[in-house]
Formats: sequence, structure tokens, C-alpha cells
Amino acid sequence: MARWLLCSTRHWQVVLCLIASAVTLTGAQIRYSIPEEQYKGAFVGDVSQDLGLDLDRLRSGRARIITGDNQYVELERDKGILVVREKIDREKICGETTPCSFTFEIILENPIELHRVTVEITDVNDHAPSFNKNEIKFKISESAAVGARFVLGSAEDPDVGLNALQSYHLSENSHFVLKQHARPDGVKYAEMVLQKPLDREQNAQLHLTLTAVDGGNPQKTGTVKIQVNVLDVNDNAPVFNQSVYKAKITENSPRGTYITTVNASDADTGTNGQIRYAFSNLKGNIGDVFSLDENSGIISVTGMIDFEKNKIFEIGIEAEDQGGLADSSKVVVEVVDVNDNAPVINIMSLIGSIAENAPSGTTVAVINIKDADSELNGQVTCSIEQTFPFELKSSITNYYTLVTKSELDRETVSEYNITVEATDSGNPALSTTKVLNLKVADVNDNAPVFSQSSYYTYVMENNSPGVSLCKVMAQDSDNNHNARVSFILEEKQINGSPASNYISINSETGVLSAVRSYDYEQLSKLVVHVKAQDGGSPPLSSNVTVTVSVQDQNDNAPQVLYPVQTGGSVVAEIVPRSADVGYLVTKVVAVDVDSGQNAWLSYRLQKVTDRALFEVGAQNGEIRTVRQVTDKDAVKQKLTVVVEDNGQPSRSAVVNINVAVADTFPEVLSEFTDFTHSKQYNDDLTFYLVLALAAVSFLFITTVVVIISVKIYRWRQSRLFYQSNLPVIPYYPPGYTDTGVTATLPHMYHYDACMTTDSRKSDCKYSTLGGKSVLVMEPSFTETMQHSLTDNNFTRHQDSHELVRIL
Ligand SMILES: *[C@@H]1O[C@H](CO)[C@@H](O)[C@H](O)[C@H]1NC(C)=O
Ligand SMILES: *[C@@H]1O[C@H](CO)[C@@H](O)[C@H](O)[C@H]1NC(C)=O
Ligand SMILES: *[C@@H]1O[C@H](CO)[C@@H](O)[C@H](O)[C@H]1NC(C)=O
Ligand SMILES: *[C@@H]1O[C@H](CO)[C@@H](O)[C@H](O)[C@H]1NC(C)=O
Repeated sequence: MARWLLCSTRHWQVVLCLIASAVTLTGAQIRYSIPEEQYKGAFVGDVSQDLGLDLDRLRSGRARIITGDNQYVELERDKGILVVREKIDREKICGETTPCSFTFEIILENPIELHRVTVEITDVNDHAPSFNKNEIKFKISESAAVGARFVLGSAEDPDVGLNALQSYHLSENSHFVLKQHARPDGVKYAEMVLQKPLDREQNAQLHLTLTAVDGGNPQKTGTVKIQVNVLDVNDNAPVFNQSVYKAKITENSPRGTYITTVNASDADTGTNGQIRYAFSNLKGNIGDVFSLDENSGIISVTGMIDFEKNKIFEIGIEAEDQGGLADSSKVVVEVVDVNDNAPVINIMSLIGSIAENAPSGTTVAVINIKDADSELNGQVTCSIEQTFPFELKSSITNYYTLVTKSELDRETVSEYNITVEATDSGNPALSTTKVLNLKVADVNDNAPVFSQSSYYTYVMENNSPGVSLCKVMAQDSDNNHNARVSFILEEKQINGSPASNYISINSETGVLSAVRSYDYEQLSKLVVHVKAQDGGSPPLSSNVTVTVSVQDQNDNAPQVLYPVQTGGSVVAEIVPRSADVGYLVTKVVAVDVDSGQNAWLSYRLQKVTDRALFEVGAQNGEIRTVRQVTDKDAVKQKLTVVVEDNGQPSRSAVVNINVAVADTFPEVLSEFTDFTHSKQYNDDLTFYLVLALAAVSFLFITTVVVIISVKIYRWRQSRLFYQSNLPVIPYYPPGYTDTGVTATLPHMYHYDACMTTDSRKSDCKYSTLGGKSVLVMEPSFTETMQHSLTDNNFTRHQDSHELVRIL
């Protein structure tokens, strides 16, 4: 039989007493209750009392405890109480099991008694809830939906009952709420529920605290930290910081020139915030001109920027993150003009040549000026050299006409290189020049000009036909055919026949040549006119006088006019024996049709019977006695006189003169009959011959005189008579008769005067001065003489010996 005794409690301990009946073998059962975690020696129960055993019995009975493995309590026999032997941890002994107790027996000997004791251990809140981690980390995308749950796990509390885990608390936050659950096994756990969307961009990390609370008194708690990392979601597009970027750049900027930087930002991180820049909607050549660094957003120049092509660039740009979100903007690049274009001169039309007589104001060229630059850089002025007779006129903007300012003269300037200069107003200014080549076309405005105002040349007579006389030259300052000069001999009469019979001219070379051989004695001077004519239309011409002087040659021997040389008859001059010294026996009269020295005659005796008796005047041909004629001198004297001219070589003539030194004619005759072969036959013949000769001579001389008179009279009528003090030359007048074999020369001479001042007129004037005939001649006497001779056919009558010239 057993009795349960509820024992008194001391302090917070509850003692459960088991009162066992004192039976022999099987004793009573007692039960005690103690809180766990009692210190060693803590009172558990008074067994002596509860079992009803006194201390002596215990001692004698050697009461002791019989236990299994664990001896949590021990028996203090002398006090009869049970105390805690070692600290008791309920959680160790029982874990979750409740109620928790252990049982042991107390055994006594003498008599043997056995008592069972059960000790119940009550829970004490000795454990706080605890989490098995210090920190819980979550990575939650910011795109996580509201209501998403995140299990936080559970805390453990080995205590039981109220002392066990009761609830969880989550620190204050705006995104999550806490929900608590209990598993079927009764374990309580918590989870977070997203109640407001996360935004990484606002809050990239949340720090929360989860607290677990038990129900003990005092309460015990355990905490764990919760770190929420908000994961980025590409929820932000890049944004340019400007809607338009403006930049200015001068044209021709070199490659790599910085223009501007575009900047977009993306609130996202990582690849979601990695921006790449690019051009969008590229138009034309923009891609070749600009480059955009896809990472830095720097825009720079890569190609040629030409203001003249693009004044402004509008470039679309785009920024895109890796998530594919993008923004766009634009860059406006204004190109600043640089004076990089020189003006361009275009010759719209140009006449290659202009006639030199073109009127002032004639348009030569039309010029167009262009400058690709703008504003001042493109404002162009155009100019030419002021010295030229041209000017620029502009009626339409950028168009100029080049006109003549005055008349031109090809002979002065035949070609103009007109430099047109176009200059713009830039700084520095650029200019362009262009040379216009303008030829001045010839107009036949210049007549040929001879190199001399007159030409004078001479030629020896007896020239060969065709010999060239001289060359005339003429120049024409015109051009081409207007300057092609041809020479023409002008029509003119020379000696009654056309000039072309005497002289010819090569129309191209201007060389004058003789057509025939000239005879000075006929023609001493040729005067012709040569015309030089150019090839223009109409042609222009000028003329010049060419004088060809024919030079005399000694081509004529002197001709003896007197005494006449007869074939058979003997003519003799009679010298009276009474003649004094210096008696003029006769005079040898000779002429030379040459002129000048060629006609200077000299006389000398070549052969003479008696050299001491006669002499001949070297100049005048007068034969005179040198001494007194004596009776001893032979009747018949024979003289040979040589007449020589002064030419080179000289020519001469020989005349034989018979002189009879006698006082009577019969004496002479008797002497001279010796000369003949048959005297009786010759007497009559001689007489008749002399008579006939005298008659013929008389007739002829009369005729000559008449003709000369008529001729001279005509000249006198037609030509002027000029006074002159030129040398006076004695002249035997034609009317002076000297006929017959016995003729003696008169001692007094009659002269006619022929005066002239003008050599060209070659005329003579015969006048009778005081009953004497005097021939007056000028130095060109030879010519005059020749005319007279020619005119009178004098040379054909060589037997006439009335005309004597004395030099
Ligand atoms: C863009 O602009 C932001 C703020 O304006 C600045 O912090 C950043 O450095 C800029 N980026 C570049 C590439 O200049
Ligand atoms: C935009 O960004 C660029 C580059 O960093 C900077 O130069 C510019 O000043 C910014 N513009 C604004 C309005 O902030
Ligand atoms: C004009 O220019 C041309 C070509 O350069 C040259 O042959 C000619 O001699 C020049 N004329 C003048 C008058 O300068
Ligand atoms: C020669 O030219 C002059 C002017 O130069 C002119 O007066 C004259 O008539 C011309 N003579 C002839 C023969 O052509």
C-alpha cells in the first residue's frame, strides 16, 4: 500500500512527497517535484519523515539509493533528506517530454525495506529562443511582385510550455510584413511577405531584424538579422542630359577635332546601366564625317567638313543600355565658313582677236566670277591692269564684260595678255588670276615705207643686159598680206620709149636690173619711179624715185673733123714762105663723144718732115710754125698728128696733114703732082674732086646749120632761159664756111652761147652776143653736147668739120 504525500514546499521548489506505507518488502512510494537547474545540495525531500523512518533506522538500515546511470540526487542519511547531487537540466533528461521525472529506490536493510521515490523536474525558462544563423541574406529582384513570400525559418527554444517559443516580430519596414505559421509538429516559423514593390534605385539594400519571443517570465528573445539585397532590373532607360547638343566647328577642321560630348545616364546598374552611344538615322555622308565614341560619347571629326556642302549638320544620336532601353537626342553642328575657296573666273566667251580699228567699247570677253564661300569670304571684286586700253564693266552681279576703252593699234601692241584678277573680301583675302590672250587683228592702215627717200645708183655704160642696178626696200608695218609689198615700175617715157624698155624691177625683191645695155652717149641718166604696194584691200602704196646714173666709158676714139682725110686726093695747107714764126698753119679739130676725161683731147706731132718747123698745140690742136720759113725748106711737108683722149686706156686717132710751103698755087701743084701717079689724068680729076667736095661740103654744112638753128629755136621756145656765169667755151658756128682744099682757117672765131642753169633740162641757148657766136655751157656740158650731137645725127657725118670744141 502506498500513500502520496504532498510535501511542503520551500521557496519556489515544489516537493512532492510520496508517503509509502511501512511495509516490509515493498515499501511506499513517494514523489517529489523540484525545478530544474537546482544547485548541488539543494533540498529535494525529507524521506525520513515521508517514509516514517527515523534517523536511527536509516542509519542502521544503511539506507541508500539505488539508481541507474544518473545519480541526480543523493541521500543525506544523517538528516534523512534528499539533495541535488548534480545540476539537473530538464531539457537534457527529457527533451520535449513532459512531465519529466526520474525514479529511484531507497533500500534499507535489517529488515530490508524498499521504497520507490519519483522526482519530477519542473521546467524553468532557462533558454531564450535562438536562430541557427546570425544573419539571413536575401537577393530579391526589384521586380518581385507584391505578395511574394520569403521564408525566414524558425527559432528554437528548448524550454517547454510557456517557456517555449511563442512568437516572431519583424523590425519596422515599409516593404515587408511578417506571417507566422506552425508546422504540424508544432514548430512555429515565420515568413516575410512583400507588400510594397522594391526599387533598387531608391533602396538597394534593406536591413531587417527578426525577433523570436518565448512566453517565459521574464521573457526571452532571440534575433536574426535579415539583409535584403534588391536586385537590379533594367527598369530605367538611359536619359540624355540635353535634348539638343549644339556645337560649332570651322570647316576644314582636321581629323580628330573634338566637337562635343553627349552624355546620357542610366539609373540602373551593371549592364543595365551600361550605355552605348550611336548615331541614329544617319543621313548622307554624316557617318564619314563624324565619329561618335560609343563609350565616352565624344563626337569628333573624321572626314572633310566643307561649309560649301553642308552649312549645318543635324545628327541623331541614341544611347542604349545593355538591356535594350534607349533614349535619343540630336547634335546640331554648325559649320563656320573659312575663306578656303578662291574665286573662280570663268570665261563665258572671248573673242580671240579684235580688229585694230574696232570702235571703243567693243566687247572682248564676258567673264563670270564665282566664290563658293559665303558672306565676305564670297564677295568678289574683279580688276585688270589699268595700263591696258580695256575696262571691266559689270551689269549683272558676278558677270563682267571686258570692253575696249580706246582704239587699238596692232602696230604698237599686237597682242594683249590681259590679267583678270578676282579677289574676295575674306581675311586673308584669296585671289585668282586668269590671263586672257587677245590678238589684235591687222587692218591695212599702213602704206609701205621705202628705206630711203630716194635711191641713187650708177652703172657703167656698155653694161650687160640684165645686170642688177640696185635694190629698193620698203617695209609695211602691217601684218601678213597687208604687209606683203610688191614693187611696180611706174609708167614713164624715157627717150620716147617706155621706161620698161630700159629697166625692170623684180616685184618681190625690189631689185632693179637693166633691160638693155646703156650707152652713156645716148642716155646718161635714168630716172624712174618705183611704187611699193601692199597686198591689202584696198592696197596702200607709196613711191620713190630711183636715179640711175650711167657712167661714161672710154668707148669712143676721138674723131678728127678737120682736116678731112680723103682717100685718093691730096689736101694740103699752104704756108707762104713769108710766114712769120707762130704762123697758124691749120688747126686739127677733133671731137670725142665720150665725156669727161674720156673726151679730154690732146694733140701731138707723131711724124713730121721737119720737126724744127712745126709744132702742134697740145691742147688746141693748132699747128703753127716755130721758126721763120726759109727758101731751103721743102715745099712739101708732111705732118702726122695723133689726137688722144684722156681715157683709161686712152684711144687715139691719127691725122695726116700735108703742108705746102709755097707762095704760088702752081708751085704747089707742081710739087704735089709728084705725089700722084699720072699727072695729066689727075689734074682734071683733082680739080673736079675738089670742086665737088667743096660743093657737097657747102650743101651739107648749110643743111646742118639750118637744122641746128631750127632745133635750137624750138628749145628756146619751150624751155626757160637762165642767166649763168658758167664757163664760156668757144664754138665754131656752123655757118662758118671753110671749104675747098685751099681753105684757110679764119683768125677770128664766132661763138654761140648756150646757157643753162638746170642740168636736167640739158638745153642750150644760142645767142648772138655782139656779132660773135658763143656757146655757153655748164659742167654737164658733155650731156648737153651729146644731145646736140645725137639730135643732129652729127656722128654720121664725120666729114663735117665745122663744129669744133675747145676744152
Ligand atoms: C555625364 O553627366 C553626369 C552628370 O551631369 C556626370 O556625372 C558624368 O560624368 C557625365 N559623363 C560623362 C561621360 O561626361
Ligand atoms: C551634359 O553632359 C555633358 C558631358 O558631360 C556636359 O558637358 C554638359 O554640361 C551636360 N549638360 C547638362 C545640361 O548638364
Ligand atoms: C602672252 O602670253 C603668251 C602665252 O603665255 C606668250 O606666248 C606671249 O608672248 C605673251 N604675249 C605678251 C605680249 O606678253
Ligand atoms: C608719189 O607719191 C606722192 C606722195 O607720196 C604723190 O603725190 C605722187 O603723185 C606720187 N607719184 C606717182 C608717180 O605716183
